[in-house]
Amino acid sequence: MSSTCVAIVTPNASLTIMLLPSLTLCFLFLCLIYYLLSRAFLTGSRSLPLPPGTMGWPYIGETLQLYSNNPNSFFALKQKRYGPIFKTHILGCPCVMVSSPEAARFVLVTRAHLFKPTFPASKERMLGPQAIFFQQGDYHARLRRLVLRALMPDAIRSSVAGIEAAALRALRSWDGRFVNTFHEMKTYAFNVALLSIFGNDEICYIEDLKQCYYTLEKGYNSMPVNLPGTLFYKAMKARKQLAQIVAKIVSSRRTQWKTEANGLLGSFMEATEALTDDQIADNIIGVIFAARDTTASVLTWIVKYLGDNPGILRAVTEEQEEIMRSKDGKSLTWADTKRMPLTSRVIQETMRVASVLSFTFREAVEDVEYEGYLIPKGWKVLPLFRNIHHSPDNFADPENFDPSRFEVAPKPNTFMPFGNGSHSCPGNELAKLEMLVLLHHLTTKYRWSMVGCQSGIQFGPFVLPLNGLPLRFSLKSPVEGHPA
Ligand code: HEM
Ligand SMILES: *[C@@H]1O[C@H](CO)[C@@H](O)[C@H](O)[C@H]1NC(C)=O
Repeated sequence: MSSTCVAIVTPNASLTIMLLPSLTLCFLFLCLIYYLLSRAFLTGSRSLPLPPGTMGWPYIGETLQLYSNNPNSFFALKQKRYGPIFKTHILGCPCVMVSSPEAARFVLVTRAHLFKPTFPASKERMLGPQAIFFQQGDYHARLRRLVLRALMPDAIRSSVAGIEAAALRALRSWDGRFVNTFHEMKTYAFNVALLSIFGNDEICYIEDLKQCYYTLEKGYNSMPVNLPGTLFYKAMKARKQLAQIVAKIVSSRRTQWKTEANGLLGSFMEATEALTDDQIADNIIGVIFAARDTTASVLTWIVKYLGDNPGILRAVTEEQEEIMRSKDGKSLTWADTKRMPLTSRVIQETMRVASVLSFTFREAVEDVEYEGYLIPKGWKVLPLFRNIHHSPDNFADPENFDPSRFEVAPKPNTFMPFGNGSHSCPGNELAKLEMLVLLHHLTTKYRWSMVGCQSGIQFGPFVLPLNGLPLRFSLKSPVEGHPA
């Protein structure tokens, strides 16, 4: 039995050995063809590896690790372990996180068309599905034109006096009181946002509008269960009322023919590119959402860092006193706000160190190759602004608060507090203006003291000093402001 086997096998085996080199060549050749074909036509870049990283448990992924303590240390740890591009899984979504200037530029600027904006569906419903953040293409471009037209320097320079009045009103209301700084800054930023939207009109609706917005806000981060009694349900109801208030304002403007460009609403209503009432409501609620807590948390951090750095506070105060003396009691102008280089650097450095928007979200619209890695279609992509702002490659001694580092302009895509590319912040000029105006009056007229130990930080969703930085503000005595 065994001998026949040998007899049969031997000739075949020798044949195989003889043919082996050419068979191997054939096989390799076929593999090459398959590889080239599959690269060109079939699964695209599927054969590329995913970025390094771990995906954690099924469904919940690494969400717990992210939210268990400080989300920023989660990002920092991952970057240290895996480098500037890594994968993870949070809130039910596979994600690729990127933290180099080049990768952020790729996602937000040069290949922005491959990455669409994305939000959880419940948030989109609450803010309004036609709001600017969620859009791409022609409708987005049109909205952006209308928003930028109302928020660019030429449009907002005339509102300096109104913003100054809002700043003075806020400061007067804090005098001698113990306040929650973040809470007060939110009120100020809300008033400035309403001013930029409605101009000085419609005061009679403003209180109702604010009340509805507060209800909306309470439900924004609640469980999206739309049953009577839940915060989400109340928020959705407030959302409808907000749209009705905006519709009332729009129709009263229409009947009075006050449709000439007046604030953001005027821009939305202008005849040639006018939006529908629903589009207007979604975008007004959206702008309030984008404008208020961002600006308020930066202002809160500025107050904190100035309190922690008396030398810098003294220098800022001197810069602002110089301007105050030159004004002789007259109100501030746009040109005055351009004479505040040191204060501007304090704002920049605060936005770098605090990085209140630590990252943003996009979603890959197709399989994308980046640096030899596959970013699969449908995955979320998160440019990590905070990591970029805290990398020693981009900023020497990154944890140190040092406004003088901005005496030299930062390199492209290393400093993006307002993002970059087609969705970058159209409100950035207004944000800087309202911060400068408030700081002018705060540093020249008031002093503040922290209450107890104040080194804690809180998260969710904004990074903030613990408890919103409770402080006592009081008017300086006149001599204090002008040392002999
Ligand atoms: C210091 C305060 C602010 C910061 C740090 C900030 C930051 C940002 C960032 C990073 C983005 C881009 C997000 C992304 O690409 O996904 C953005 C978008 C936006 N911001 Fe701001 N923002 C601030 C104040 C404001 C203000 C005052 C307004 C309006 C009055 C505003 C209106 C908007 C709008 C409408 C968008 C969406 C733009 C689009 O999708 O095309 N922001 N902001
Ligand atoms: C945005 O990207 C462009 C192109 O890379 C770059 O020139 C510009 O400096 C970037 N802006 C910021 C704020 O980094």
